[in-house]
Amino acid sequence: MATIGVGIIGCGGIALQNHLPGLKLCPDTQLVGLCDSNAEVLDCAVQQTGVTFSTQDYNELVRRDDIHAVIIATPNATHAAMAIAAASNGKHVLCEKPLGMDQAETLGMLNCARENGVRHMTAFTYRFVPAMRYMKYLVESGGIGQPYHIRTCRLQDWGDRNLGWRQFSQMAGSGELGDMLSHRLDYAHFLIGDMKRLTADTRRFVDDRQGQISDLEDWVTVMAEFENQATGVLESSKLATGRGEGA
Ligand SMILES: NC(=O)c1ccc[n+]([C@@H]2O[C@H](COP(=O)([O-])OP(=O)(O)OC[C@H]3O[C@@H](n4cnc5c(N)ncnc54)[C@H](O)[C@@H]3O)[C@@H](O)[C@H]2O)c1
Repeated sequence: MATIGVGIIGCGGIALQNHLPGLKLCPDTQLVGLCDSNAEVLDCAVQQTGVTFSTQDYNELVRRDDIHAVIIATPNATHAAMAIAAASNGKHVLCEKPLGMDQAETLGMLNCARENGVRHMTAFTYRFVPAMRYMKYLVESGGIGQPYHIRTCRLQDWGDRNLGWRQFSQMAGSGELGDMLSHRLDYAHFLIGDMKRLTADTRRFVDDRQGQISDLEDWVTVMAEFENQATGVLESSKLATGRGEGA
């Protein structure tokens, strides 16, 4: 199989801690280029990887012939434009969650990928956790019978610490819903099937995070019914005292 040249857009936390080690586990991929709008972050990533092509402009990266697939690991507000630029240039796209800022933006990304015939996926990492894969196997094989109910809790304690771009709706689109519950929503779909109807609530308990206003929720709960009649309760919080920042 030919080697897949990969470019990473956004060289922050998730790119360095997860995507780089992940790529090293894939022998048919080669990291070809890096992009970050922050020169210092980019320089640090270049030194860490030894990659020879780097740029602060993602449009340069997606136009390269030796890059076949792009990983988008930037703040949420930037995902759609980058994914659309990549797919329009014929690049396969792995985009971080949450994909777009809203449904319309997200559907635009999907349609563009489909129109250009490229592969596309979201980094819903928990699908690949061994215990969660085993749970999927147990459900599919009938090993635990018919699932009647799914209950997930993503309870973490981030206190009132500053969350950077994550605490601003203009950059993140949503708070705990897109940041953490999106993983559990995806897993519930993966395990049980499509949701038929749901009711949900969100709450922001901390308005000021170390001197900066937060305008996004830090708690969310969804109560759902699935197409197969199963029910679900999915809860996620950044303010579950004593839980730590979690994994
Ligand atoms: N799948 C997961 O489990 C998981 C975990 C953490 C983060 N994420 C997602 O990954 C994305 C990035 O999160 P992070 O924690 O790495 O954030 P981060 O702030 O650590 O890194 C983001 C990087 O993107 C760069 N950037 C911003 N705008 C840019 C632009 N226009 N062009 C190029 N680079 C730009 C920033 O300079 C920064 O270095 C978010 O969408 C987040 O939701 C997913």
